[in-house]
Amino acid sequence: MLNFSFYNPTKILFGKGQIAAISKEIPKDQRILLTYGGGSIKQNGVYDQVMAALAGRTVFEFAGIEPNPTYETLMKAVELARREKVDFLLAVGGGSVVDGTKFIAAAIPFVGDPWDILANRGRIETALPLGSVLTLPATGSEMNSGSVVTRRATNDKLAFMHPLVYPRFSVLDPTTTFTLPPRQIGNGVVDAYTHIMEQYLTYPVNAPIQDRFAEGLLLTLIEEGPKALAMPDDYDVRANIMWCTTMALNGLIGAGVPGDWATHMIGHEITALHGLDHAQTLAIVLPSVMQVKRDKKRAKLLQYAARVWNLTDGDEDGRIDAAIAKTREFFERMGVHTYLGDYGIKADAVPALVAQLERHELTKLGEYGDIDLPTSRKVLELSVAA
Ligand code: NZQ
Ligand code: ZN
Repeated sequence: MLNFSFYNPTKILFGKGQIAAISKEIPKDQRILLTYGGGSIKQNGVYDQVMAALAGRTVFEFAGIEPNPTYETLMKAVELARREKVDFLLAVGGGSVVDGTKFIAAAIPFVGDPWDILANRGRIETALPLGSVLTLPATGSEMNSGSVVTRRATNDKLAFMHPLVYPRFSVLDPTTTFTLPPRQIGNGVVDAYTHIMEQYLTYPVNAPIQDRFAEGLLLTLIEEGPKALAMPDDYDVRANIMWCTTMALNGLIGAGVPGDWATHMIGHEITALHGLDHAQTLAIVLPSVMQVKRDKKRAKLLQYAARVWNLTDGDEDGRIDAAIAKTREFFERMGVHTYLGDYGIKADAVPALVAQLERHELTKLGEYGDIDLPTSRKVLELSVAA
């Protein structure tokens, strides 16, 4: 096992009715900025529950944080928060709202141009405290220190991580997810699945705890994901998915093991240039990364084939082929298509995607840092066919 330090300060409030508990988590005298997206929380009653929990408090609102939250929009919230001297941020929504709110939290007190937080590893000295009420299980943002923000003007989709932006608390009430459209149910499962794979499908370091945790999470998504599509009102199914997606990216399974993350980095460029949902890009790229890196990932691919898909017969290459095919089939079963061509993107789009990777200095990806630009090009070329 590799050396690691593990620290996760986010308090989780899990289960039906837990939104009411946020009143105890935010000090009474704080001026609160409630941030949310395009309005789903108004339609499904989550907004009303949050406002009821905050009755009597000073609450400002910022609506309109879009999927793949933009710097342009978030800076408007920063202005509002500075003007109103807000002390606490409460994000209510999916990963985009939580990510966007982390950026707002860091940007409000930031000295200098807040874009530097994303583009130039600008030093974050302090950040406003934030909490979240999650309505879309997918990203893990509710219990991690990462945030991904897009600058529309320049087609940059960039991430930052900082311990000061861990949510102080996150409410995970599975009933808030009942209203998710099938596309977002599928997206969430595929995103979490890929988070697990990025931390699992590398090379063995004799870390059986992390491996078994990861395999358990993958098997849970494989079992529960299709049930969420078939039985959207089943509380237990939603609860299992919600806890699974949080555990997939809260640092636990990634501690002490190598990480890959090439699929995410290549996927972010597809979203930046073509606007695909985050999970759609992962469903496209992951099977190709598995294929292109099959030799260096061989030991883990065989373990994945055996323990997750029960593929133990036949020669090694046949098992690896079957494991990649099973992965693709699972994404398709969740309603997320797995080729660029399925989204109308053709081979002529590949050079611009590779140029984006180069512009962002993403030229040494993967657990060995050996996914250079020619390798990324190969991954993308393999992802085109439909
Ligand atoms: O905006 P509203 O009206 O709320 O609608 C949203 C949005 O249109 C809707 N939605 C959310 N909860 C709902 C609901 N609709 C009905 N009922 C509900 N309960 O779903 C749509 C998508 O929401 P979004 O927040 O964009 O989705 P997701 O949670 O998948 O977040 C994606 C973003 O997270 C980033 C991605 O890059 C992307 O920008 N990621 C963040 C990570 C992190 N912080 O660690 C890691 C991930 O790998 C990922 O990169
Ligand atoms: Zn992701």
